[in-house]
Amino acid sequence: MFNFMPEQASEIASNIDWLNSLILWLSVFFTVAIVGAMVYFAVRYRRRDGVDHETPRIEGSNALEAVWTIVPTVICVFIAYYGVAFYAQMREEKANALEINVWAQKWKWDFEYASGKKTTAEFYVPVNRPVKLIMKSRDVLHSFFLPAMRVKRDVLPSAYNALYFTPIKTGVYQTFCTEYCGMEHSGMLATLHVVSQAEYDRWVNDRSEEIALSRVTPAERGEKLYNQKGCNACHKLDGSSAIAPSFVKLFGRNEQLADGTSVTVDENYLQESILHPNAKIVKGYPPNLMPAFEGQVSDDEIQALEAFIKSLTTAKQEQAAAAPADPAALAGMSPADRGKKLYNEKVCVTCHSLDGSRIVGPSFKGVYGRKQKITTGQEIVADDAYIKESILNSAAKVVEGYPPAMPAYQGQLSDAEVSDIIEFLKTVK
Ligand code: CUA
Repeated sequence: MFNFMPEQASEIASNIDWLNSLILWLSVFFTVAIVGAMVYFAVRYRRRDGVDHETPRIEGSNALEAVWTIVPTVICVFIAYYGVAFYAQMREEKANALEINVWAQKWKWDFEYASGKKTTAEFYVPVNRPVKLIMKSRDVLHSFFLPAMRVKRDVLPSAYNALYFTPIKTGVYQTFCTEYCGMEHSGMLATLHVVSQAEYDRWVNDRSEEIALSRVTPAERGEKLYNQKGCNACHKLDGSSAIAPSFVKLFGRNEQLADGTSVTVDENYLQESILHPNAKIVKGYPPNLMPAFEGQVSDDEIQALEAFIKSLTTAKQEQAAAAPADPAALAGMSPADRGKKLYNEKVCVTCHSLDGSRIVGPSFKGVYGRKQKITTGQEIVADDAYIKESILNSAAKVVEGYPPAMPAYQGQLSDAEVSDIIEFLKTVK
């Protein structure tokens, strides 16, 4: 028969689908039988030629009554039995379950593992191991729905709710929020990656993101938090300010407030607005839309966010003010030295080590001429062409086991600069 259900990716999925199609096809059968009989009788016994045709008087039939009582009863009990049995199977506590804490918040999902690993909008689990999601909401009622696993459960602000599933195949699966929770409800998505145990172990112990985070500037850390904490759902960077004030050129601006007063956006106003958003609402925006972040962001994080917001005002001016590199001095350097300078200036240093250690991207130690497997399974040699492509269009051929995390440098580096970087890489042995 035609298939309108998503992939069956969990242990319970085939049972659920079996029961669901049983109910569906029973309903189709009885709908056709009952409506068909109705139509047939209406046509067969219609009034003809303006004459009344009297029908015979029937006194009832015990056999018929027994049939239409017993058959539906048996069917209903059968469905109820399997419904209860599958539900029990769905809610069963498994001793070796992988427990993941899930927080719902307008409008994002946060995941936290026992190892301390934290993610937003995506999570990983190993295949064939039972998973228990322990879920709670920070604000309103949400609902966590994983169609491929055939499980769904409300997420409440007042109490914990658990969701269980055992993935049976690797893959990438979409989750949804299925309880209307406000403006960005439909965008409240998360991605589930079901991977092999080995890949899961690598992922869950991979701290490269945190290490990389500790090496970046406060503004860059703030940008990351801006995405992680879900600020980006409402505070846009494209200048649009439909839901909430845009962060672009926000710092230092004089804002009219809803109560008729005005305020200059400074560090204290930003801090207050993050912790207690309702304290000073900008005119034209509704109160109670933004959740209070008190207790959810540290002082460090607030500082980083403020640095990021400031950078959206000052970045352009600072860039213009930065003294341009002395062309004569650059010309006097060897291509490899110029490449090294670029390696530090263009922040390659954040993700690619020179000593063979893994940060976010592959180490540059001995990279030139190295044979590597890329995510498509293909093997490539890191030659001039490959390195150039990986700088300018970094997502094209990502080395296996690494996230496609690097920004494309197309348009940001000249050909001469790219070849300087390649000369530098040749020297990193
Ligand atoms: Cu959260 Cu809808």
